[in-house]
Amino acid sequence: MSIVTNDKKRRKNKIGIFVDSLMYVILLIQMLYVFAGNVLHEILGILMFVCLTAHICLKRKRIKAVFKKGAKKKLVVRISEIITILLLCCMFAMVFSSMGVSRTLFPWFHFMGNSDIHRYLATGILALSVIHGGLNVALRSRRKKAVFAVTAVCTVLSLILGLWAVPYMNRHFRQVDVDFEQAVSGEKASWSGRNPLVVYFTRVGNTDFDEDVDIVSGASLMLASGKKMGNTELLAEMLCDMIGCESKAITLTGEKYPSSYNDTIAVAGTELKEDARPDIQPVNISEYGTIILVYPIWWGTIPMPVATFLTDNDFTGKEVLLLATQGSSGFAKSTTDVKKLIPGASVKEGISIYCDDIPKAREEIRQWINQLDTAAHDPDRQ
Ligand SMILES: Cc1cc2nc3c(=O)[nH]c(=O)nc-3n(C[C@H](O)[C@H](O)[C@H](O)COP(=O)(O)O)c2cc1C
Repeated sequence: MSIVTNDKKRRKNKIGIFVDSLMYVILLIQMLYVFAGNVLHEILGILMFVCLTAHICLKRKRIKAVFKKGAKKKLVVRISEIITILLLCCMFAMVFSSMGVSRTLFPWFHFMGNSDIHRYLATGILALSVIHGGLNVALRSRRKKAVFAVTAVCTVLSLILGLWAVPYMNRHFRQVDVDFEQAVSGEKASWSGRNPLVVYFTRVGNTDFDEDVDIVSGASLMLASGKKMGNTELLAEMLCDMIGCESKAITLTGEKYPSSYNDTIAVAGTELKEDARPDIQPVNISEYGTIILVYPIWWGTIPMPVATFLTDNDFTGKEVLLLATQGSSGFAKSTTDVKKLIPGASVKEGISIYCDDIPKAREEIRQWINQLDTAAHDPDRQ
């Protein structure tokens, strides 16, 4: 082989090792999402995609060999190939999942926007990458047993990181303790529309929380100046402060939701399937021209007690502005479902706020209200 070809091969190998090492480092930083923050997480996600493309280009001959039929292969080679195929499938799904949960770079993309699926995929990719790298090194190494042992330990550690350590860190380092006054009060919004009323639904007040409910690990709960509060209630308080209006909560009169978050998800799923209308305390909206409806997205739409509120009241001729909080789905089907339930009202989709961003959402909401007010006075935009 000529010196030039050898040099080229060596350079390609070096680039390959650099790209592979970079991918492992990025994967680890991505797992520490709670410290890195969303923007860096999304930018590194793009960099990961670039590295993956480079990796596939550099290893294209080996990847082609994986799909070659007929050739006699050792068991370890076969296993390595299966891992490569699984890894490629997970990476492919990860591209969609990453766009689905993205809030900064792809906020318009909602397909596969489930954060649990995203986390399981990330854990799978980390563990499969470790096995993939380990088997490839083992195939070329003389100390195969030692490489297999290190690979096995690193795979177990990856699974522990993804399935236990990451959720633990997310729970314990997420901001749940907010200064109520600081989050809620500030510059007023311009409002010259019809008499407004904020109506909201949240878990707090509609859940039989255990006395010692763990706010820190109880997703969707926070402590606002020491008081247990739901995300949606905090948004409602912000609106009331900036517009100077009243708010009313949608409150169940019958059985409340269970203390456990996962059990609530199950109960809410059954209610949605049955198109249930849980009983709620009457909310009188007759004196108001505009209802700002604030709700959490449940199973991709409004919680069923919100459906009860909409069917129980006469919305004819009223303006209804929607503000949702969610865990990555955006408004999902909720706007369409609200419109179906109150055909006589003029329903306008507003903004949906990601649950972790709520304590800092006041300015975004104020700008939305100001824009609505400007549009209402601009004859060309009406
Ligand atoms: C029963 C249930 C179902 C949920 N379904 C979704 C969903 O489909 N999509 C989503 O993005 N978030 C979903 N979430 C997350 C909530 O929308 C989010 O945590 C919201 O901020 C909770 O507001 P709250 O604290 O006022 O109840 C769900 C939460 C619960 C409790």
